Amino acid sequence: MTAVNTPKHIAIIMDGNGRWAKQHKLPRIEGHRRGAEAVKRTLKAAQENGVKNLTLFAFSVENWNRPKLEVLALMDLLERFLSEQMSELIKRKIRLRVVGRYRELPERIQTLLHKAEEATQDYDEYTLGLALNYGSRTEVVDAVKAVAQAAIEGSFDPNDLDYDGFSQYLYTRDMPDPDLVIRTSGECRLSNFLLLQSAYSEIYLSKVLWPDFCENEFKAAIAEYASRERRYGKTTEQIKV
Ligand code: FPP
Repeated sequence: MTAVNTPKHIAIIMDGNGRWAKQHKLPRIEGHRRGAEAVKRTLKAAQENGVKNLTLFAFSVENWNRPKLEVLALMDLLERFLSEQMSELIKRKIRLRVVGRYRELPERIQTLLHKAEEATQDYDEYTLGLALNYGSRTEVVDAVKAVAQAAIEGSFDPNDLDYDGFSQYLYTRDMPDPDLVIRTSGECRLSNFLLLQSAYSEIYLSKVLWPDFCENEFKAAIAEYASRERRYGKTTEQIKV
């Protein structure tokens, strides 16, 4: 059951895997491995708490600049996660959507993503957005290029373009904007994540390191969200009418 004030879409900046590993005197990749376990817990918690859309920032365009071995390990982890979770997504009727520059990912990952997207495309209640090779600025540039191309081809008059029209060129085209953006690990920035889509999102900063993120913390974020007043530029009196 979905409570009245439950966010329709939660987007999460999963941060703190490296610090978690350091605290436990383990290699960084072990932090990412535990992070992947937290992803599975959170996906389950989202569905059980009636959150229809969940988008997870799993790999940014900037993450390619990490040490080569860490990038390779993250790709291996992603490959394993996708292979293992495919049947789970189908069992739980969750649609997978990739949010990011798909074609620059390793081919084996693209193949798995394509299979999972295809197998789950008809589910219309729950969506998992995986932000992979994602950056907002790249997304905007890709969208502007596509808009310009459509205008050149005469598909529309640029004077008729508004934000709703433009948003159809973003990677998130068929998802609602996030109501709530969560960032873990106590850091306080958006790091090039869904900058346009989160224009009116509520933000929840959790001190928990991502590998320790659990259903209680997820519920705490939802409860905090429910207590917020969203005004979209209006006054309190106007929205209470
Ligand atoms: C940030 O922690 C996390 C990432 C860069 C990647 C997120 C990846 C996962 C949660 C695991 C794999 C995901 C899937 C979907 C299988 P950090 O390394 O920046 O942590 P730090 O700031 O403490 O160093």
